[in-house]
Amino acid sequence: MQTTEARFEKLGPEYQQEPHAVHERLRAVGPVSELVLPRGLKVWVVTRYEEARIALSDNRFSKDFSKAGDLFGRHLQPGAPRREFDQSFASHMLNSDPPAHNRLRKLVNKAFTARRMEALRPRIQEITDQLLDEMVGKSEVDLLDALAFPLPITVICELLDVPMDQRDDFRVWSGTLLTDSKQEDVDAAAASMYAFLAALIESKRATPGDDIFSALVHASEDDDRLDQTELISMAFLLLVAGHETTVNLIGNGVLALLRNPDQLAALRADRSLLPGAVEEFLRLDGPINLATFRYTSEDVELGGVTIPAGEIALVSLLGANRDPEKFPEPDRMDITRQTGGHVAFGHGIHFCLGAPLARLEGAIAVGSLLDRFDIELAGEPETLRWRESTLLHGLERFPVSLSDRGPR
Ligand code: HEM
Repeated sequence: MQTTEARFEKLGPEYQQEPHAVHERLRAVGPVSELVLPRGLKVWVVTRYEEARIALSDNRFSKDFSKAGDLFGRHLQPGAPRREFDQSFASHMLNSDPPAHNRLRKLVNKAFTARRMEALRPRIQEITDQLLDEMVGKSEVDLLDALAFPLPITVICELLDVPMDQRDDFRVWSGTLLTDSKQEDVDAAAASMYAFLAALIESKRATPGDDIFSALVHASEDDDRLDQTELISMAFLLLVAGHETTVNLIGNGVLALLRNPDQLAALRADRSLLPGAVEEFLRLDGPINLATFRYTSEDVELGGVTIPAGEIALVSLLGANRDPEKFPEPDRMDITRQTGGHVAFGHGIHFCLGAPLARLEGAIAVGSLLDRFDIELAGEPETLRWRESTLLHGLERFPVSLSDRGPR
């Protein structure tokens, strides 16, 4: 068994630019590493597949930080910029353990089933086609701005009946909260986001619609009723999770195709490969690197290491999905490979609620883009940068040049 000291390491800001190389190195040493993240937070990180699945589904890795005291404060290195997540958005299912988790998830589970999402296919196709129409005649676009961001945010806003006029503001606030931003920017974004969500709930109270959000606001006392903080948190989770991730599925997926022309050609030649290709996008360069925070509610032994109680434990979904023990030649893109069991959507009780929606949006966006355009990376590949975020794995910008393939 290795000693804890042997694995202790501080990651620099280049981590987010080269996460796969770091994970490969860590996996070679052991399944669990003790690290200091670029912003000074001391954590345990799981990078091997087998142990990742265990950590994601073992309740001793708790998600309920309301019981954890000042955990982040205690684990920040001296001099590290302090940045806790705003508590006003935190009372949601992804931050709760059973039985509270079951209660919150049950309220929205039925609204996001694969069958319900499939019924949205024509509308998602329509939104995609409109976005692609707007790209016609342009020789270059940022694919994130033109397609990967507006598609999922439009769909989730329509699903929850949220007005679209503050969409761009919302993108900025949510981006600031999820990336490693300055504390004063985080505070300002949190205040604006709170005001936006509180106004949204007020408007649903005054004029209920036919959407799931109105149903949650108007649940009677006999039904399960959410309090104001729970409502705000639910809105925050669905809106943010509903777009910040899918943008990276589309962006990272298209980038992987451009970097692997044989795979792009195979997909163009045989469109039945599309669902498998989406799974391979998720496995190879999934939208989330380190899954959302967990902490040990007691001492936990994992992969021969004892993580003491009261420590922050993160699971690297990117690391697990490139574990060669599970996925042979993990760095090679193969849209026909067996990707079953990948953890890009997590695992266990917190498995992504929106997975059916994200898969559908990813397939429609990428398939339709390939139908309409020939695309190439615009600019030098080495100028591409990944967003500096503990959670997300997505590009900052993604300039592509386009040529129209003509009428279908
Ligand atoms: C949970 C990934 C899209 C809603 C999760 C988790 C992951 C994930 C990894 C679990 C996190 C953890 O255990 O720490 C993704 C990816 C997406 C995506 C990769 C896109 C490709 C969506 C969409 C929605 C959504 C479109 C919209 C409804 C949620 C919710 C949870 C969740 C509500 C919390 C579930 C729970 O705690 O029970 N997602 N997600 N996600 N996701 Fe997604």
